[in-house]
Amino acid sequence: MNDANNLLNLSFRRALPPAVLALLLLLSAWLPVLPLLALGWPLPLLVAIQGILAALLSRWLGLPGWWQLINLLFCPLAWLAADSGIDRRWFLAGFALLAITSLGSLKTRVPLYLSSRRAVEEIAKRLPERPDVRVVDLGCGLGGLLMGLAATRADCRLSGVEMAPLNWLVSRLRLGRKANIRLGSLWREDLAGYDVVYAYLSPAPMARLWDKVRREMRPGSLFISNSFAVPGVAADETVALHDLTDSRLLIWRI
Ligand SMILES: C[S@@+](CC[C@H](N)C(=O)[O-])C[C@H]1O[C@@H](n2cnc3c(N)ncnc32)[C@H](O)[C@@H]1O
Repeated sequence: MNDANNLLNLSFRRALPPAVLALLLLLSAWLPVLPLLALGWPLPLLVAIQGILAALLSRWLGLPGWWQLINLLFCPLAWLAADSGIDRRWFLAGFALLAITSLGSLKTRVPLYLSSRRAVEEIAKRLPERPDVRVVDLGCGLGGLLMGLAATRADCRLSGVEMAPLNWLVSRLRLGRKANIRLGSLWREDLAGYDVVYAYLSPAPMARLWDKVRREMRPGSLFISNSFAVPGVAADETVALHDLTDSRLLIWRI
């Protein structure tokens, strides 16, 4: 019975991206709750029951802890927010902004968050001391890392590739001629042309990215990942950043 359960859970997780599965579970948790509404149960209690059911379902189907927490709190918090008197157009505006910056992350499983100033400083220190060093930020977001490097190492040839159109546009406008910013997927970028490759992505693509690094990067180049390890491959250097999220740089010399 346990084996059948595990098989079912695995099939669900393989078939659907975690965010879609989490949403389906959030909605399904309303099914047993709605008839109780018709019986006159108080809404705050039903919202709490729905949250608990959604979290338990997420746990049962093996979603990571943060999805269990999101599903536990989503409807109760949405209910509190709807009652708070905040103009609903703000929620719509927030949702629209999230959608245009991060909708692609449903597929890529890489959301938008930004490198800190400490990350820029530590990377700048490790760039080779010669002119024309070629650096790429894979998934350059809003271009913050490249802006920082352009300010400290204007002699480098900076590039960024970004898949989300709004993020790409912001990077492009911010960086102008200081960097070559392309709209597209990092998987189409040939890494052989770079001395330093930087990525701040998520755990999801790291094993595949490491395969690409090993196939394409030239000996003597540097691969730097902010926060996310390559499964089973120790970094040559780890640098604690002591920034807001207490992140670290993992550095491999190829
Ligand atoms: C965590 S953010 C990092 C932003 C930036 N590198 C920084 O450090 O400030 C990751 C970015 O990678 C982008 N991204 C995710 N998958 C991608 C892909 N396959 N190709 C290009 N960009 C991608 C996302 O849209 C997001 O903007």
